[in-house]
Amino acid sequence: MSEKKFELTDLSTGKKSVAEVKNGTLGPSVLSVANLNKEHGLFTFDPGFMATASCESKITFIDGDEGVLLHRGIPIEQLAEKSNFLEVAYLLINGELPTNDQIGEFTHAIQYHTMINESLLRFFNGFQYNAHPMAMLSGVVASMAAFYHDSMDIHNPRHREIFAHRIIAKIPTIAAAAYKHALGQPFVYPRNDLDYCSNLLHMFFAVPCEQYNVDPVTAQALDLLFILHADHEQNASTSTVRLAGSTGANPYAAISAGISALWGPAHGGANEAVLAMLEQIGTVENVPKFLAKAKDKNDNFRLMGFGHRVYKNFDPRATIIRAMCHKVLAKLGKSDNPLFELALKLEEIALKDEYFVERKLYPNVDFYSGIIYSAIGIPQSMFTVMFAIARTVGWVAHWQEMIADPAMKISRPRQLYTGSPRRDYVEMSKR
Ligand code: ACO
Repeated sequence: MSEKKFELTDLSTGKKSVAEVKNGTLGPSVLSVANLNKEHGLFTFDPGFMATASCESKITFIDGDEGVLLHRGIPIEQLAEKSNFLEVAYLLINGELPTNDQIGEFTHAIQYHTMINESLLRFFNGFQYNAHPMAMLSGVVASMAAFYHDSMDIHNPRHREIFAHRIIAKIPTIAAAAYKHALGQPFVYPRNDLDYCSNLLHMFFAVPCEQYNVDPVTAQALDLLFILHADHEQNASTSTVRLAGSTGANPYAAISAGISALWGPAHGGANEAVLAMLEQIGTVENVPKFLAKAKDKNDNFRLMGFGHRVYKNFDPRATIIRAMCHKVLAKLGKSDNPLFELALKLEEIALKDEYFVERKLYPNVDFYSGIIYSAIGIPQSMFTVMFAIARTVGWVAHWQEMIADPAMKISRPRQLYTGSPRRDYVEMSKR
């Protein structure tokens, strides 16, 4: 890549400075503006980070125009076809695909950390029966910090590794406890002889009075969905984890902050909203009415599962999930799924509509994922929790990368102040 340089000129004073351009291995270069304030007394202004790279990272690359997603350089399509969730977790966190011994050790560390402290389990009794599982998940994950004082030195690499194993191993157990609490069913303990997704399904669906056998098709479908959700560079929740973690806060607090950010309907909460929207649309005849609502600037309604800040083309994860829907529904004997039929039709109509074409709005990862979650028996209120379980791996990888960087600084954005100028306090009697 040819080296670019930018000269910045203050047109009122004529003062000039050269801004450094940093090149990555792939994707657009960035203009370093760290000295802008020192040299020109200015800050940059970019609400919503429309054109701002917040950090340097080696974990995930997205080309939004081409619809490309690479984890540590490897295309998501290859990982989806050939890998499994724990191997992808290892890759994201450690930077390389594991050897046989390495994946064996990693899997063992995850599989044998699945239990949670009984006191932590009792927290669930404090939640209302109708508490949203995301509220329980973020609260209980933050509370984990109260249990591991002896291994929370963020500057100790071994402590960071233990944290990574603990959170990846225990978050399915916490999610399952939240689900069982909402159902009013007894908590089901993890089974360390099962693989990651089979154990999750066992904790969700087993009951003490019956034998429960995990369906391998379901476990495989879940594993694939988890691969597709594992990481997505500096999205809102990952940036939240980095920001909270940059203060030196304990990593459980940082992950809990990420879970809260993920919950929003503009982010991970969209998977729950998509299914609610499809149910609301009901039939293909109603699609034009809802598309008109989505295009109406006076209506808050948006086509959920459509559009993305980075992808201005098909989200490769949505393409994989759409194909997966056909296969999984057929294998489960649920091919005639009316919501899937409706989603396909909605996508087809929206992609021909001028409004969506002009704005380059395509289905994102959340558009089809709920169809599969539903088909394998996961209730709507748990969809975003499933996303959070998978994304924990990405959050951990980014937190680790940030903390291990000797140049790490607290993230502290600045602002453009538009409030009142300086004024004096007015006594109550004179107001
Ligand atoms: N339905 C209707 N119009 C939309 C949609 C949508 N889903 N998404 C974007 N637009 C329109 C906007 O109104 C805007 O139109 P305008 O230029 O006439 O004002 C234009 O497209 C650009 O949209 P922005 O909101 O400026 O794009 P931004 O990058 O800020 O937002 C977002 C991206 C939040 C994903 C948005 O597309 C959206 O709300 N989608 C629906 C929610 C969703 O599916 N979120 C999941 C994202 S994936 C994830 O986080 C896991």
